[in-house]
Amino acid sequence: MHVVHPAPREPSRRYRRAMGDASASWRLDHPWAKVYERVSTDDRLGPLLWRLGTGSSVDELHARAAAALDALPPGARVLDVPCGSGIVLRDLPRDHALRYVAADISPAMLRRTRAEAERLEVPGIETKEADVHRLDDQDHTYDLVLTFTGLHCLPDPAMAVHELARVLRPGGRLVGSTLTTDAGLRHRATWVAGRAAGVLGPGGTRADLRRWMADAGLVDVDLTPAGAFTYLTARRP
Ligand SMILES: C[S@@+](CC[C@H](N)C(=O)[O-])C[C@H]1O[C@@H](n2cnc3c(N)ncnc32)[C@H](O)[C@@H]1O
Repeated sequence: MHVVHPAPREPSRRYRRAMGDASASWRLDHPWAKVYERVSTDDRLGPLLWRLGTGSSVDELHARAAAALDALPPGARVLDVPCGSGIVLRDLPRDHALRYVAADISPAMLRRTRAEAERLEVPGIETKEADVHRLDDQDHTYDLVLTFTGLHCLPDPAMAVHELARVLRPGGRLVGSTLTTDAGLRHRATWVAGRAAGVLGPGGTRADLRRWMADAGLVDVDLTPAGAFTYLTARRP
């Protein structure tokens, strides 16, 4: 007998996790998102937990973000995606004259980013809900795209890198970081736990990351390992 199952209106969280779509878990504000927010915004415990968890210093993220932002002229356009809970906002000067868009797939994370902007009294931050695999921005929109600690959370990081390169204007820079799967035995457990919890995507090795960036047409690619992370910079020719 042929049985027709009614289509579910909205796939459940369990279904989405089983399908391995980490982005869907983040969008639904997975419990890890709240923990991550504390780790990335708590000034006292955060840096210690970051070091224990990733074998690197969160100061490096801030130094790289600040350097990239400082190099921009007034009026330059910046996309920070995924912005998470607004970790990069503290690297913006309060009197900045940039056009800064913070984007994330999670409405809860965007609320946290807005709260962080208020707390830090950083003006002029636009937030928008966006899937980094399918941005609604036109080609060549941004002078700088920041993508810190995000590619490893995505179902299709190669597609995301292509999209990030697409929205960069010629000469614009991509700056960010990601976990990679070849960061050493010590960090394997992070991957296993993150995949099991449904908050990490398939990820890739540093060689994969380099290939995704080259395939997206990016040049001057620099990859710098730091504990579990690889920091990345590149330019659109
Ligand atoms: C580990 S957090 C890091 C974000 C932030 N840049 C940082 O360094 O703290 C990863 C973020 O990716 C977001 N995310 C996951 N999938 C996404 C997608 N497809 N498009 C946009 N954001 C996504 C999550 O909601 C989460 O805020």
